[in-house]
Order: sequence, then C-alpha cells, then structure tokens
Amino acid sequence: MRSIIIFASGAGSNAKAIIDHFRHNSLAVVSLIVCNKAGAGVLDIAAKEGISVLHMTRDLMLQTSICETLRSYRPDLLVLAGFLWKLPTHIVDAFDGKIINIHPALLPAYSGKGMYGAAVHAEVVRNREGFSGITIHHVNEHYDEGDIIMQARHKLTSDETPESLAAAIHRLEHFYYPRTIEYLLMQQAL
Ligand code: GRF
Repeated sequence: MRSIIIFASGAGSNAKAIIDHFRHNSLAVVSLIVCNKAGAGVLDIAAKEGISVLHMTRDLMLQTSICETLRSYRPDLLVLAGFLWKLPTHIVDAFDGKIINIHPALLPAYSGKGMYGAAVHAEVVRNREGFSGITIHHVNEHYDEGDIIMQARHKLTSDETPESLAAAIHRLEHFYYPRTIEYLLMQQAL
C-alpha cells in the first residue's frame, strides 16, 4: 500500500477528493495531513476521516528533523493542495521528485507571488482570457516552476465570473488530481 502525505491549509476540497478516490482503491492511503492554519476546513475533514494531522509551524518547518518526521510515514508522494508556504530546500531535497502541487491556472501564466485562489480567477476574467485551467507539476525550490506533469483546460463562457470560474476550476481539480496521483504512484518502481 502506497502512502500519501497531503499538505493543505484551506477548505480541503482537493484533500477530500483524494481521500475519497483512494477509499475504495487499495493502491494508496492518505497517511498524514500537514496543515499550518488553525481552524482550516481540512482539519475537520481529517478528523472525520480519522487521518493524523501534523500542525506545521515556521519553526518546525525550518528544522531538518521535520524530514525524519515526514519519513516516518513512509510517503511515496507529498501532495500539496492549497498549502501556501514555500517548502524549504531540506524538504524539497529529501523528497526529490516526490512532491507535487496543483495550481489553479495554466502555468506559466498567472503564477508567482500573490497568484493563488480567488486572485488568479479575478485576474483571468479581468483579462478576458479565452481559456484557463489547472496545472499539476513537480515542486522544486522555485515555486510554480517545477516540471509540468499535466494541464487541463476550461473554456471561459461569455458571462464567466471569478466565482463561476473558481467552481469550474475546482471541478477540474477534483477530477484530475486524484487520478494523476494514482497514475504517478503506478509509475513509481516498487
Ligand atoms: C486549489 O484551488 C488549488 O489549485 C490551490 O489551492 C486550492 C485549494 O483548494 N493550490 P481546496 O482547499 O482544496 O478547496
């Protein structure tokens, strides 16, 4: 059984989609949720599902011993799903090639500082883009710049609003993130 660690600090709808996907799939299990925000929706999901939570702090993340803590869950993949802190080099190096992130736009467009969540969708609609979408990519020391694994597009409707776009992007994320994780886990040599 493969082990997935999810890093999430928001509502946790992607975490939920991943947990649900692997509930009836013996390939993998979500063994830990790492969260840096008290009161985040993802914490309720973890509690309901009986999944262990690691409450991340800046101090903890900067200690190299955090790598051992994460390793104790024997993760095959570290999955970022709405975790807004940049991972320090010691974590990126310790899990080289095994960390992925999802971005709610078609990278390299709409990336970088401040480009997350509602801000992305507001900007896409303001610029009257024809398409937006999602990008699932490897994480390296430069945020949003790791190798792209897959992208899926959404064609903006003529009356698209930031809210309707956010909902469309979430639908794409919830479909493709769990399936991409499954695909990656199947590719990893045992
Ligand atoms: C997602 O839209 C994802 O693209 C971004 O953070 C958001 C997390 O949403 N990285 P949720 O907490 O999974 O609902």
